[in-house]
Amino acid sequence: MVVSLSRRGNVEPFHAMDVLAEANRLKAQGVPVISMAVGQPSDPAPARVRAAAAEALQVGRIGYTDTLGLAGLRKAIAAHYADHYRLEVEPARIAVTTGSSAAFNLAFLAMFDPGDRVAIAAPGYPAYRNIMAALGIDVVEIALGDAAYLHAGHLEAAHREKPLKGVLFASPANPTGAVIPADELSTLVETAEALGIAVISDEIYHRLAYGAPDTTALAFGNSVTVINSFSKYYCMTGWRIGWMVLPEALVRPVERIAQSLYISPPELSQIAAIEAFAATEELEAVKGRYAWNRELLMKRLPELSFPLAAPMDGAFYAFCDVTRHTNDSMAFARKMLADAHVAATPGRDFDTQAGHRTMRFSYAGSHDDMVEAMARIERWLR
Ligand SMILES: Cc1ncc(COP(=O)(O)O)c(C=O)c1O
Repeated sequence: MVVSLSRRGNVEPFHAMDVLAEANRLKAQGVPVISMAVGQPSDPAPARVRAAAAEALQVGRIGYTDTLGLAGLRKAIAAHYADHYRLEVEPARIAVTTGSSAAFNLAFLAMFDPGDRVAIAAPGYPAYRNIMAALGIDVVEIALGDAAYLHAGHLEAAHREKPLKGVLFASPANPTGAVIPADELSTLVETAEALGIAVISDEIYHRLAYGAPDTTALAFGNSVTVINSFSKYYCMTGWRIGWMVLPEALVRPVERIAQSLYISPPELSQIAAIEAFAATEELEAVKGRYAWNRELLMKRLPELSFPLAAPMDGAFYAFCDVTRHTNDSMAFARKMLADAHVAATPGRDFDTQAGHRTMRFSYAGSHDDMVEAMARIERWLR
């Protein structure tokens, strides 16, 4: 038997998914696990989103759509930019994608060639590194050290060492929750443009910031590629639906690649997602609960000797320094799951160098679960 294995298949596993699988295995055995490991809302999609999907299912014919998405959804997304950011975006520059994950594939394939150097922050969302590595892109991880987020100085220093072709950042970020303030974001985007570095801004955690209003990188340059999704604020992870806002020159290349990779995003999810922008009342109530959980964890985690390693500005994550308890966050996370029945994500996912010192707690669950999880950890540590 001949089995061919590519080097690309050797990418780092997504450890959070491994922790989730272990938590699910324990749950199936009847163990009352509280999962703070995976970044997904515990609420269902908004009622009107589900109603639109139910109606479409009654009609029944769910088919391919235009590769760049249903005209109605592209228009609704453009209207969202006008309503939320006061920015005019042509629907023609919007590509609907199978979650933001597909948008990363499309952006990387359309923007970069193998061997191009593209910078990301460490810690950062692991799929950036893993997808780029699988595509043969040279991933330049910029260690943030004590900085909460990537800024223009980081980019200049990395570019000086060896020229960069692109940079990708998220604000609010995963795993840190840090938000890049508007003035720093503007300097970052303008510096990248001046240096000839293409910008990808992952805005998947927009509408989930607890202090400053959202600022899109699009406000500072039309050559920015923005990636966003219905997964987080809109509580639609399993619907696998997201979008990109593209500079004009990238629209056709992305369309050509998407035609062959995906044909189209799922029509049922697109029909439903049109309704998501009208569900603000319901979604703000969900966000209100995250804010309540955040207040709790901001107090309880440091009390349990998990000092915050980054400000909890947005998203639904607390990123903590665990060195008062361990020098191996992976082993610590496994033991916490086995003994205290609380799942959290070891920092290794987000930072291959310094991740043994950190852990991420997602607070997208119910408030009661958060209270109980902190009590369990406290008992366990004692
Ligand atoms: C920063 C960031 N970007 C993108 C994604 C992928 O989201 P999706 O493919 O569901 O849109 C995630 C998921 O956790 C994330 O944290």
